[in-house]
Amino acid sequence: MIEMQPHERNTLDSLMLFGFWYRALPSDRLARRQLAKAMLLEVPLVLGRDIQGRVFALQDACPHRGMPLSYGCFDGQQVECSYHGWKFDAHSGQCQLIPSLTSKEKVKIDRIYAGSFACEERDDYIWVFVPQPAAAGAGFAKRQEPSESLPRVPTFSSKYKLAHLSAEMPVSVDHGIIGLMDPAHGPFVHQSWWWRSRASMHEKQKAFEPIPNGFRMSAHTPSSNSAPYKLLRLYAHAEAISTTIDFVLPNRRLEMIRAGKYWFSSLTTVTPVTRNQCRIEVVAAWNIFPWLPWGAHLLKYVFGKFVEQDRHTMMKQAEGLQHSPHMMLIDDADRPAKWYFQLKQNYLLARRTGGEFHHPLSAPVVLSWRS
Ligand code: FES
Ligand SMILES: [Fe+2]
Repeated sequence: MIEMQPHERNTLDSLMLFGFWYRALPSDRLARRQLAKAMLLEVPLVLGRDIQGRVFALQDACPHRGMPLSYGCFDGQQVECSYHGWKFDAHSGQCQLIPSLTSKEKVKIDRIYAGSFACEERDDYIWVFVPQPAAAGAGFAKRQEPSESLPRVPTFSSKYKLAHLSAEMPVSVDHGIIGLMDPAHGPFVHQSWWWRSRASMHEKQKAFEPIPNGFRMSAHTPSSNSAPYKLLRLYAHAEAISTTIDFVLPNRRLEMIRAGKYWFSSLTTVTPVTRNQCRIEVVAAWNIFPWLPWGAHLLKYVFGKFVEQDRHTMMKQAEGLQHSPHMMLIDDADRPAKWYFQLKQNYLLARRTGGEFHHPLSAPVVLSWRS
């Protein structure tokens, strides 16, 4: 059992992992020539879409005197600050104009930059690479290039459908993540006639193995006590259904379900907005039921129910967490949560010291719990 002291919890909770891609906004929430505010890891951002449709992300603070650039004007190419009219290139953040300068003044405006972030669209979302916070010299610093490739939802055929949903949670990213990987809350939080009931709880064994920056619940036949899987087995005429679930730092849960030629996958992320607030975002892809015109709606409905149940639970939990309660993690049901904390700590340690990253799992292990 791990007992967590209040000071440990506070340090862990307030740590957010810089140097990764994070989901910032669903693509459909940003039209051409528009600006939108977003917050990632307590960094305020202004996102925009230029006249060609390309997205960009700038720090939402003018390098002159800190006015949020989101209050400014955007003509589709340059962002103009609302305070003194400085203009910045939307993609590079490079200053293009300082209206107050006379011809005698020798300010090199092209050396001034609004903070700019690598920004890409994939699978219905706008992603932003959040680098290590810049030290001194901000205002003259160019953007840092991403050190990892953009994550994607796994797909296994050329044709498929895609749907997404998100929910804000009033808890730290750590509670969001361990809530997501916790197998023991299912029968209590996610009860419904079509999923599972408390009465169907039974002992389960799952094999886990280490993967780079994370761990995998090895391919297994999904739980027999849930109706959707029974349905899938019938529909796909497949005896063998296999599910694989990966967790990878900083915040990614990938699920892949395969039944013959049919498949369903999802990439769920828990994005730190501030140290006390996170956002769960699920993007699912599938080629099951391609003829079902409202398949995406059905799926959104089902996923939406799950996420709502989690959100309600975390809202109540946040009430308790305000008073720094005592907490504990128990074997085996909370073991994935322990791995998560160890992965995070070891990752930060390796980054700080420049040393090697030690994976908390040295070999495959089998965990058991009742759910
Ligand atoms: S604060 Fe932006 S131009 Fe002065
Ligand atoms: Fe849940």
